[in-house]
Amino acid sequence: MILVTGGMGYIGSHTCVELINAGFTPIILDNLCNSHKNVLERIETITGQKPTFIEGDIRDSELLNKVFSNYPIDAVIHFAGLKAVGESVQHPLRYYDNNVVGSLSLVQAMEKAGVKRLIFSSSATVYGCSSTEPITESFSTKAVNPYGQSKLILETMFTDICHADPEWQMVILRYFNPIGAHESGLIGEDPNGIPNNLLPFISQVAIGKRDKLQVFGGDYDTHDGTGVRDYIHVCDLASGHVAALNHLPYKSNCLAVNLGTGKGYSVLDVINAFEKASNKKIPYDVVERRLGDIDIYFADASLANSLLNWQAQFNIDDMCRDTWRWQQKNPNGYLG
Ligand SMILES: NC(=O)c1ccc[n+]([C@@H]2O[C@H](COP(=O)([O-])OP(=O)(O)OC[C@H]3O[C@@H](n4cnc5c(N)ncnc54)[C@H](O)[C@@H]3O)[C@@H](O)[C@H]2O)c1
Repeated sequence: MILVTGGMGYIGSHTCVELINAGFTPIILDNLCNSHKNVLERIETITGQKPTFIEGDIRDSELLNKVFSNYPIDAVIHFAGLKAVGESVQHPLRYYDNNVVGSLSLVQAMEKAGVKRLIFSSSATVYGCSSTEPITESFSTKAVNPYGQSKLILETMFTDICHADPEWQMVILRYFNPIGAHESGLIGEDPNGIPNNLLPFISQVAIGKRDKLQVFGGDYDTHDGTGVRDYIHVCDLASGHVAALNHLPYKSNCLAVNLGTGKGYSVLDVINAFEKASNKKIPYDVVERRLGDIDIYFADASLANSLLNWQAQFNIDDMCRDTWRWQQKNPNGYLG
C-alpha cells in the first residue's frame, strides 16, 4: 500500500488514478482543507477502485502512528501542504506549521514504523531566479517567499535524514507548472475563490465566470514580453510519481528530480492555445508585474528521462483541451 498524503487534492487525485492503473493500492490521508470528499467517487468512476480514505491532519502524530500500524504501508507520496505564494507572505506561520511541522511529524511517524521510502512534492520555485538556459537540478537554490522557503527547508531536512541513515530512500520531485485535467473531465483543479494560477483563471473567463484576465507584466525579457513558464500536464506529473516509486528500491540517496516538459510558453502563448482549444475569445489587460515574478524559467528534464525513464507526453494544446473539458463539465468545480 502507498500512503498518499494530500491525495484528495489536484495533483494527489490524479496520482491516485495513475497508481491504481499501475497496480498499486493508494490509501489517502487528507484533512480536506483544500479539497472535496466527492473526489473519491470520481476516482472510483475512473478506475473502478475507491481508495481507502482517512480524514485527518499530518500534524496529528497519534493518528499517523495508528495509520502506519493498521495498514501495510510500503512507501509514502507526500502532497499534503499549503501552496499559495501570496498567502504564505501574509501568513508565514501558517505555512511553516502546516508544511514544515506537518512533514516533520510525518517522517517521524515513518521512522517509528520503519517505513523509509518517501516521494516528496517540491517545486521549481526553489530555484528562485530567472534563466534563459534550461534549469538543471544542480542550479543554485534560493527561497523568495515563505512557501518556497518551506520547500527548501524540507528538501534540506530530507537530505540530512538520508545522509544520516542510508536505509532511507527518497525522491524529491521539483514540479514546474502543473495544468490540465484527467481526460475523463471528472477530476481537475478546483481553486477556492479567485484563482492564483493562470489556467484556472483563463478557463473561468472562458466559461463566463470572470470578465477578463489580467496579464501581470508585458515588459519581461521574453519573445512577447509576458512571463515564460514550463507548463506540464497533471497526468504527466502523476505518471512521474509512479516512475519515481518504481525507481525507489534502486537508490538509497535523497535525489532531487525536475518534472517539466523542457519547453517554455509565455502567457500570451497559453491564451492563444486556450482560445484554440475552447473556441472562445479570452479578453485580457496587461497590467503591472507582480512582485517577485520572474521573466523565464523552464526545466532541463533529462535526469527524469535517464533515471526514471520518464518523459512528458502531452503538449500545450492537450493541456488546454483537458482543462477546458474539466471546466465545462464542472463549472463550479466539485460542487457541480
Ligand atoms: N499545483 C502547483 O502548481 C504545485 C507546484 C509545485 C508544487 N506543488 C506542491 O504539490 C503538492 C500538491 O499540490 P496540489 O496542487 O495538488 O495542491 P492541493 O491544495 O490541491 O492539494 C493538497 C492537499 O493536501 C491537503 N492538505 C493540506 N494540508 C494538510 C494537512 N496538514 N494534513 C492533511 N492534508 C492536508 C489539502 O486538503 C489538499 O487536498 C503541494 O505540496 C504543493 O506545494 C504544487
